[in-house]
Amino acid sequence: MKTVLVTSSKSPHANTRRIATALGEVLDARVVSPEDATPDVLMEADRVGFGSGVYWMSYDKRLAECIRSLPDMSGRDAFTFGTSGLPETPFRRYTRRLASVLEHQGFRVVGSFNCRGLDTWGPFKLLGGVSKGHPDDNDIAAARTFAAALG
Ligand SMILES: Cc1cc2nc3c(=O)[nH]c(=O)nc-3n(C[C@H](O)[C@H](O)[C@H](O)COP(=O)(O)O)c2cc1C
Repeated sequence: MKTVLVTSSKSPHANTRRIATALGEVLDARVVSPEDATPDVLMEADRVGFGSGVYWMSYDKRLAECIRSLPDMSGRDAFTFGTSGLPETPFRRYTRRLASVLEHQGFRVVGSFNCRGLDTWGPFKLLGGVSKGHPDDNDIAAARTFAAALG
């Protein structure tokens, strides 16, 4: 299945970029930025993964903008992936929100992958960051397992 990954990392740690690289290796997928994810590029794929870090309880807003700029994507699969300083709680429904945008555009959402990513933003910097060392080898292995299970 031809797969393209649309991803952005805004923090200096490039945490999500590392997850995208692991997913891309397993899925033999091209990795592009939201700016390069034009309809032409994505229409050539059978499956598209969208992922970024979490910023202010939301994935990078450029992902949703990119998805909304596409034509009807019915017949194609999509998944989300991301890294965040803190685990997603029931009150921080950013994964569900992005999935809704995908479904609205006609995609069939087939999964999501999330793990912790070193967060040195704002006051956390004073503590040396939270989720130190993440993504770690276990996170990368989990991302690879997720990708392999997609088939
Ligand atoms: C401006 C900013 C806002 C953030 N907001 C959140 C947040 O709301 N919830 C959270 O869990 N982590 C938050 N983080 C931490 C990032 O999600 C985490 O470090 C992530 O791994 C960054 O991914 P990246 O390196 O791919 O950009 C924030 C980080 C930054 C820089």
